[in-house]
Amino acid sequence: MAILIKNIKQLVQIEEEPAVWRAGKDMQTLHTIQDAFLLTEGETIKAFGAMSAFSPVLLQNLKESLTEVDATGKMVFPAFCDSHTHLVYAGSREIEYINKIKGLSYEEIAKRGGGILNSAQRLHEASEEELFDSAWQRLEEIASLGTGAVEIKSGYGLSTEDELKMLRVIRKLKEKSPITIRANFLGAHAVPVEYRGRQDCYVELIINEMIPMVAAEELADFIDVFCDKGFFTVEETERILMQGMKYGLRAKIHANELDYSGGIQAGVKYNALSVDHLEYTGEAEIEALLQSETMPTLLPGAAFFLGMVYAPVRKMIDAGLPVALASDFNPGSCPSGNMQLVLSMGCIKYKMLSEEALNAVTINTAYALDLSDRLGSIAKGKIANFFITKPVSTIEFMPYAFGSNKVERVALNGQFVV
Ligand code: NIG
Ligand code: FE
Repeated sequence: MAILIKNIKQLVQIEEEPAVWRAGKDMQTLHTIQDAFLLTEGETIKAFGAMSAFSPVLLQNLKESLTEVDATGKMVFPAFCDSHTHLVYAGSREIEYINKIKGLSYEEIAKRGGGILNSAQRLHEASEEELFDSAWQRLEEIASLGTGAVEIKSGYGLSTEDELKMLRVIRKLKEKSPITIRANFLGAHAVPVEYRGRQDCYVELIINEMIPMVAAEELADFIDVFCDKGFFTVEETERILMQGMKYGLRAKIHANELDYSGGIQAGVKYNALSVDHLEYTGEAEIEALLQSETMPTLLPGAAFFLGMVYAPVRKMIDAGLPVALASDFNPGSCPSGNMQLVLSMGCIKYKMLSEEALNAVTINTAYALDLSDRLGSIAKGKIANFFITKPVSTIEFMPYAFGSNKVERVALNGQFVV
């Protein structure tokens, strides 16, 4: 299929020369074209520009049948990239959410066998088919809200068998879904009940059994550790990341959500693609990140849902860092994968400008998926993942009108899916 979208009120996040990421002041750069067209053929973007520059000659050599769309009054954006989710899970956890409202902390709930261990128990009881079907519905929902690429973590298995089960479900989703999916092995998400008091043995299991088996089946692109107070130590994290790297898995880790855990520095030391959460980020952490190729990634939905402190994003950007915003879609700390809401929270809670927040949910999350050469902007040759909005007044309206769906149609790999 080829798609020609004409009379686009504003074509947003176009790039003549694709950036790898946008950092510091440059996060305010967002190139757009008013009254524009966009042409895709097959899976990729073929051409774009001002309507005044459109010529039917562009259509002459198309090898595929053409669908034309008139987007008068509507804008076109690159589809969101969501670089951090746990969207394969069994069952919801609204009872814990009530306990949270009553005042229990995330750590207290975890200590009582709730939290991640609760999801691990349910995942153990669920079949691959059930996990696939529920995750598939979540994928359909996030696609309808404008997401075109997503990272999915394991980490509710916590045994070799169940971690492999989760990763096989993710592989099947990868094969079947039009959404671009990256898999992240998160065996070190929590210590399972049977290893309580023997955390070191569980770490050995991850290193000596899980990682080699995950790698042998090529089930993961990345490796993750929940490096934080009450979960995994820096030393354990480093050992796990080292083994992961030996098996070709790049690190993308959970860090500094609950404390100044040293997780950010550990991630930087092992050249992590991203370090995520980062509520506890101070001068030393910013300094370490400035010397790195690691994408600092914030998950405002989780901070919002858990009522936590918000990461000092303004300080981070003003210091020159790039920043990405992802959903953290999971049953415990963010039961929503709505990236439109994440965009709004970026502006409202982190005081990001619309341009900064839009870069944070497109090109910078594409980087955090190791896909910024193919996704995250409207550029010639990139994958044709984009959405057409409902009629909207300005770019700023997108984060401003929080809570309503501004997305009307979505195309992934050059095909309309919504
Ligand atoms: O990213 N922080 C660690 N893990 C998840 C929460 C998972 C859960 O509570 O089920 C997170 O927020
Ligand atoms: Fe997470």
